[in-house]
Amino acid sequence: MDIMGDTKPDRKKIELTDGNILLRPYRMSDVDKLFHAVRESVNEMSVWLPFAHENYSIRESKDWIKKRPKEWRKGIAYDFAVFDMQSGDMLGGCGLNEIDERNGKANLGYWVRTSRTGKGVAVATTRLLAKWGFEVLKLKRIEIGIALGNQRSLRVAEKVGARREGVLRNRINIRDVMHDAVMHSLIPGDV
Ligand SMILES: CC(C)(COP(=O)(O)OP(=O)(O)OC[C@H]1O[C@@H](n2cnc3c(N)ncnc32)[C@H](O)[C@@H]1OP(=O)(O)O)[C@@H](O)C(=O)NCCC(=O)NCCS
Repeated sequence: MDIMGDTKPDRKKIELTDGNILLRPYRMSDVDKLFHAVRESVNEMSVWLPFAHENYSIRESKDWIKKRPKEWRKGIAYDFAVFDMQSGDMLGGCGLNEIDERNGKANLGYWVRTSRTGKGVAVATTRLLAKWGFEVLKLKRIEIGIALGNQRSLRVAEKVGARREGVLRNRINIRDVMHDAVMHSLIPGDV
């Protein structure tokens, strides 16, 4: 039997917050905000996240948001936009994907728009999302796989308290170049 069960949480009702940031599933009305957040961050993001390429278009923001409800319903990916609670600005995105229902495992990913990095947003985001993954999805293990050279992201995993488990060879494909990845994990009780 699968650990996670068949019922998927109702994405329309979910808001995760620590008082400073808010995580909620994407809405179609976020298309413009997503587009601008990615556009301003292309230089920093494209190095590690190929979806944020130099010709990234509003069409891509739209298509991607459009697919979120189906992927959520099917249990393929649980994606959230991240907002500043005070200003309402979109700060970035995060998600749980590569779901393994049999073993209760997921990969956790994140990005923060360039103008808002260095302020703890990724660390706070990771904590909120991981906690939700354990409490609501009943995950037993969350992986954060980070390309060996991505110093900032490695620091995020460390600050969150994820356990560094080792280096996995040729684990991440970034534009057809294979990168070794530092595998980190969180299990219930870690966050
Ligand atoms: C990695 C990323 C998510 C970090 O977001 P963030 O909100 O700035 O992260 P936080 O502020 O929560 O913490 C990051 C840590 O990295 C440090 N950091 C920030 N800028 C840095 C830089 N230029 N070089 C090295 N470390 C840096 C921060 O100082 C902080 O550590 P500290 O508190 O000890 O100083 C963001 O830079 C990003 O979106 N990068 C591109 C996409 C990406 O790499 N995603 C992750 C894929 S695994």
